[in-house]
Amino acid sequence: MDGTYIEREGAANAPFYLPQGDECDLFAAAHANTLPVLLKGPTGCGKTRFVAHMAARLGRPLYTVACHDDLSAADLIGRYLLKGGETVWVDGPLTRAVREGAICYLDEVVEARKDVTVVLHPLTDDRRILPIDRTGEELEAAPGFMLVASYNPGYQNILKTLKPSTRQRFVALDFDFPAAAEEERIVAQESGLDPARCKPLVRLAGKLRGLKGQDLEEGVSTRLVVYTATLIAQGMPVERAIRAAMVEPLTDDEDIKRGLLDLVTAVFG
Ligand SMILES: Nc1ncnc2c1ncn2[C@@H]1O[C@H](COP(=O)(O)OP(=O)(O)OP(=O)(O)O)[C@@H](O)[C@H]1O
Ligand SMILES: [Mg+2]
Repeated sequence: MDGTYIEREGAANAPFYLPQGDECDLFAAAHANTLPVLLKGPTGCGKTRFVAHMAARLGRPLYTVACHDDLSAADLIGRYLLKGGETVWVDGPLTRAVREGAICYLDEVVEARKDVTVVLHPLTDDRRILPIDRTGEELEAAPGFMLVASYNPGYQNILKTLKPSTRQRFVALDFDFPAAAEEERIVAQESGLDPARCKPLVRLAGKLRGLKGQDLEEGVSTRLVVYTATLIAQGMPVERAIRAAMVEPLTDDEDIKRGLLDLVTAVFG
């Protein structure tokens, strides 16, 4: 592939996403060649937005599943349900995506139960099939079907990483927070706040991210910077907005909080 790809009607209405590198080309190339993609990165750095944006650009419907430790294979594939005295089969989101040639996005895939990853294996190698044991069907994925999974490698324990046999079925893209100039554009665009006023917020976010690993488990997300700017654009005083959206969500520890507020004073004077 030469980096160009077909843009469908949805492209014009695609949700705003500012690329950080060649991730859009890579995703499109994977889609064109039926390769599944794994997105790795910290919370609130743009993974979900990226998938929504690419689905629209490629003109594919998108089914998003938020994975949790109770999510079973049946939740993805489907089950028989009682409807008016009859049992009817109801497709789950994965089955629907396989039939329609849609993009199926499994958010926080490491949270899902083991039986879920087993289901993904025949779909993510070149067979591209989904066996449905309960109905005896074996579905071949329709053209356009793509499996996308994401996880945050930071905060889960060692038990919650993907098995090599699962992760080695995906092309993986590493996400991180945008560089300052890009983050300023994103925050201004998302919040409507004047770009000049977004600049110091992004600078503060950079300083807060420097504390990751020492005082903080996770650096402040782009999402929280957008929240802060949104509150300011709404008329909230800057200090109050920062406290509510960039300090309180990060920690409950009073000492650490004081340290963070000192940083705020250092940046805003
Ligand atoms: N590159 C970007 N272009 C446009 N908006 C962005 C970008 N990166 C982050 N954002 C903004 O940050 C917000 C959070 O991003 P998103 O929800 O995609 O994060 P995430 O990586 O999926 O987080 P989580 O792991 O918590 O689900 C978005 O709603 C959007 O406002
Ligand atoms: Mg997300």
